[in-house]
Amino acid sequence: MFSLFRRLVAVITVQALLAVTTAAQIDVAQHRERYFPPAQMMTIGVYYYPEAWPQEQWERDLRNIKQFGFEFIHVGEFAWAFMEPEEGKFDFAWLDRVVELAGKNGLKVILCTPTPTPPVWLVKKHPEVLVVDDYGRRMEHGTRQHATWSSELYLTYAEKIIDQLARRYGNNKHVWGWQLDNELSHYGKQYDYSEASQQRFRQWLQLKYSAIENLNRDWGTAFWSQRYQDFAQIRIPNFREFVAQHNPHALLDFQRWFAENAAHYLRFQTQVLRRHIKDQWITHNFMALHREVYPALSRKDFEVMTWTIYPVHGRMNEGPLGYRLGNADGIAFMHDYMRALNPAQGIMELQPGQVNWGQVNPQPLPGAVYMWILRAFSGGASLVCTYRYRQPLFGAELYHKGIVETDGVTLSPGGREFVQAIKDVNKLRALRPKDTVEPAERAARRAGVLYHFDNRWDLDNHPQTNRWDTIGHIMKYHKALKGLGSPVDVIDESADLARYPFLVAPAYQLADEQLVNRWTTYVQGGGHLVLTLRTAQKDRRGYLWEGLWSKPIVDLIGATIPSYDVLPSPLKGTVTANGKSFEWGVWGETLEPKAGTTALAIYSDHHYKGQAAAITRKLGRGSVTYIGVESLSGELERELLRGVFERAGVKVKDFPNGFHVEWRDGFWVATNFTELTLTAPVPSGARIVLGEKDVRPAGVSVWLE
Ligand code: GAL
Repeated sequence: MFSLFRRLVAVITVQALLAVTTAAQIDVAQHRERYFPPAQMMTIGVYYYPEAWPQEQWERDLRNIKQFGFEFIHVGEFAWAFMEPEEGKFDFAWLDRVVELAGKNGLKVILCTPTPTPPVWLVKKHPEVLVVDDYGRRMEHGTRQHATWSSELYLTYAEKIIDQLARRYGNNKHVWGWQLDNELSHYGKQYDYSEASQQRFRQWLQLKYSAIENLNRDWGTAFWSQRYQDFAQIRIPNFREFVAQHNPHALLDFQRWFAENAAHYLRFQTQVLRRHIKDQWITHNFMALHREVYPALSRKDFEVMTWTIYPVHGRMNEGPLGYRLGNADGIAFMHDYMRALNPAQGIMELQPGQVNWGQVNPQPLPGAVYMWILRAFSGGASLVCTYRYRQPLFGAELYHKGIVETDGVTLSPGGREFVQAIKDVNKLRALRPKDTVEPAERAARRAGVLYHFDNRWDLDNHPQTNRWDTIGHIMKYHKALKGLGSPVDVIDESADLARYPFLVAPAYQLADEQLVNRWTTYVQGGGHLVLTLRTAQKDRRGYLWEGLWSKPIVDLIGATIPSYDVLPSPLKGTVTANGKSFEWGVWGETLEPKAGTTALAIYSDHHYKGQAAAITRKLGRGSVTYIGVESLSGELERELLRGVFERAGVKVKDFPNGFHVEWRDGFWVATNFTELTLTAPVPSGARIVLGEKDVRPAGVSVWLE
């Protein structure tokens, strides 16, 4: 009887889960122009925390924000305790005043749902909503992001406050859009092991597999007696528990579930908001290059996709000034990824100066903040917002710079760069040529980079060498493409491949015949496909194929892959290509080309000396290239990609790493993340509208051709 009841409850919850998951999603394209008029190109705003400052200063601050040129403020993501100081007692008078003052000063408002910071009364009353980490420790009040999105109870509280906000501001003309929560899955907690999550994971598995035998089959539990008899026996894989090695298929499913659960939580919030909001957009501030939460799952929930980026926080990055200029490749990758998800995209948090949370928090190079803003412009951003307006005088983020200094009124160095960038973006608005089309020479180099989090998770779960870095491998290709002057979209399998004359699928480990058929059709139709090592080694469950290694692509690439090798650090091997020598050490596959397939790179040492490391063949109207080795420098990748373009008869550029040249709305933009002064490729007769032809480190040049 009890078990029947339990099952019934499980079925009902699963159905509720499905109802949210399958809810109507928006047509992204329809909304874009409405909220982000093309002529505006990019708009710039700032985070403001009214709850932290005396009311008497609000008007002054908002007036100054406007005078500095900002066009919107971002408010409220951590203010639940001020919105609902006691359960069911709401206080919005203060927020009404802020919104009113913003409107009066000509500023739009991004309002946030305050769910990353539940008030103390809530968690004291219901400690079961608190997140549990992998050590089994419960997070307590006094920090943030401490409630689990898996708790139905927490969702009912979230629903109430969001509903109140939506009713009150959903039709307010000063409220421009909404941000949900804040940077899901940040702050070291990454994964949640609470009972609520355990239960939700099991429900998800039940929905996916319906019968436990199916799960046993796909998880390969006929090993170490892992067989399950009931979904109720399953727990989230946890590395802190005393385990030998986790079942990789279980791990992969857990990662999929976690990302879906996050997307589900965001979707749930959009649905509550959409009950009342009129003519306002919704977004979430995803974290750059983050692995646990998968932005693509939310692409149809948001009118605009945004993310956060703190380029300088103590990482060395490339080049002697990398620690002051930021990770150029990461920034480029994020724009190309988010823009492909939704053409309305932007940066929700960009640091205005030193941060407080790195191991070391150096100053950005003078000019870097300005350059990041213009880099966002060149990456097609619709908005850039900076964290934060005032430097805090108290709390955990002391030492974090703001747009203004600790006196609350004087511009900081980064603040001055923001003001200059705003002026310059306004200048570009005035100069914007009408009806521009991407120059044909550039469009001919367009490339898609195929990216799926399943691969990232699975490769990272089972790297086979501690030198392996999935995102590092993908970025080597992305970076090489950018260096060749290719406009890149980082796409997923839902994209129309035929839009891309060139398509690169780096380490696309999990594949099936359907995908390989799509690749084949793409190539036969004239596309140039580049696959790299580890591609199609496994099926979508993470099983190796019975048969030849990487069986589904053997015919397509025109070669077999008899072996792979990995070298313990710091050992290296070499390959030669086009008469040049390149070092490798992370991963190298030997390839056996069939008739009609040409070797492009050859191993020059180890016991497989003389065997092929990269190959190419023509197929139909296109070509397939397979690169089975990863070079240490990334230069082999660039060399081989250049060959793909050249054989296709397409001209390429040769920009130094970290020197980005993009085109947007008729403007060419060069940004310099290197330590050298470099010359922008401004043709004679072109008109430079910002900066100079010689671009210093952290410099920018913008021109019209
Ligand atoms: C972000 C976070 C902000 C703030 C900021 C400080 O990751 O979303 O709330 O903490 O870091 O740099």
